[in-house]
Amino acid sequence: MTQSLAARFEADIAAAADLAALEAVRVAALGKSGEVTQLLKSLGGMDAETRTAEAPRIHALREAVTSAIAAKKEALEAAELDRRLATEHLDLSLPAGEWPRGSIHPVSQVMDELTEIFADMGFAVAEGPEIEDDWHNFSALNIPETHPARAMHDTFYIEGSGGHQVLRTHTSPVQIRTMQSTQPPIRIIAPGRVYRSDSDATHTPMFHQIEGLVIDRGITMGHLKWTLETFLKAFFERDDVVLRLRPSYFPFTEPSAEVDVGWSMEKGRRVVGGSEGWMEVLGSGMVHPRVISACGLDPGEWQGFAFGTGVDRLAMLKYGMDDLRAFFDGDLRWMKHYGFTFLDVPTLSGGVGA
Ligand code: PHE
Repeated sequence: MTQSLAARFEADIAAAADLAALEAVRVAALGKSGEVTQLLKSLGGMDAETRTAEAPRIHALREAVTSAIAAKKEALEAAELDRRLATEHLDLSLPAGEWPRGSIHPVSQVMDELTEIFADMGFAVAEGPEIEDDWHNFSALNIPETHPARAMHDTFYIEGSGGHQVLRTHTSPVQIRTMQSTQPPIRIIAPGRVYRSDSDATHTPMFHQIEGLVIDRGITMGHLKWTLETFLKAFFERDDVVLRLRPSYFPFTEPSAEVDVGWSMEKGRRVVGGSEGWMEVLGSGMVHPRVISACGLDPGEWQGFAFGTGVDRLAMLKYGMDDLRAFFDGDLRWMKHYGFTFLDVPTLSGGVGA
């Protein structure tokens, strides 16, 4: 009896072509109402003599079937792995003679250009969170709760935060975070995303800014002007970039200056350089003493300047795009036209505009 069962199960196991078929054999033999299980149960009803004779055979049968199933399972799994390894083979080499299709977004490219230029002047790159608290985005920057600038920023508030958390409206809160965490002298730039509830051809609800901050002893507006002039000449890759500083107002700088660059017409297009007209490119000024003390530094000892500008706008000016919304449409034709290949790495020796 046990011998013929053993032969049958052995044949069934050998014939199982996949894991599902094998599992069916297992259930038929060893499952709750499987044949081997039934035999084991029948031991209880046998008289002592029969049981002594049958028990070793039935247990041996169970052992044999169990180990045959385990061995077959291992073989089936190994075969399955071999099949997958053969079909899921990945070619990690670059195709020779054919360029990769991806390209680098102009915003990423311009951020790399800016980082390269400022790194050469000894600036480090700093970062801050995009979900900011009210204090870093406004109060510490000398924008108290009642200040009209809060309304002017078209702020997005985070639901459920009771108005205490916002999507940062500018990169200036990184000034605060850096002054709190770093002992001066400080020289940083902070590129990143900012958010304002505004949308037309020149405004998108998310856009990019870059902040600059220098804190040291004896810093003056002269240092600010030199830094901006050096940066803009390197960025636009022209020596005839002319700057005009206009008195302005920001709560976190005193005095404040808006910076215009001269433009001229070339082949029917307005380009930066020369001075046929002016356009505004930057906000800047000397860091307000109140901002310095809000960060726990002594404004009698430490002074500095800060500036901020739109990265998307700089990209538009340099590479001649006219609709800001196209930056965020994800249109592959636009990317193909304006995108950069991974070989256009900005370097000061090779040219930041690659
Ligand atoms: N944060 C200002 C803005 O978003 C720009 C700015 C930065 C002005 C630093 C002065 C100094 O408009």
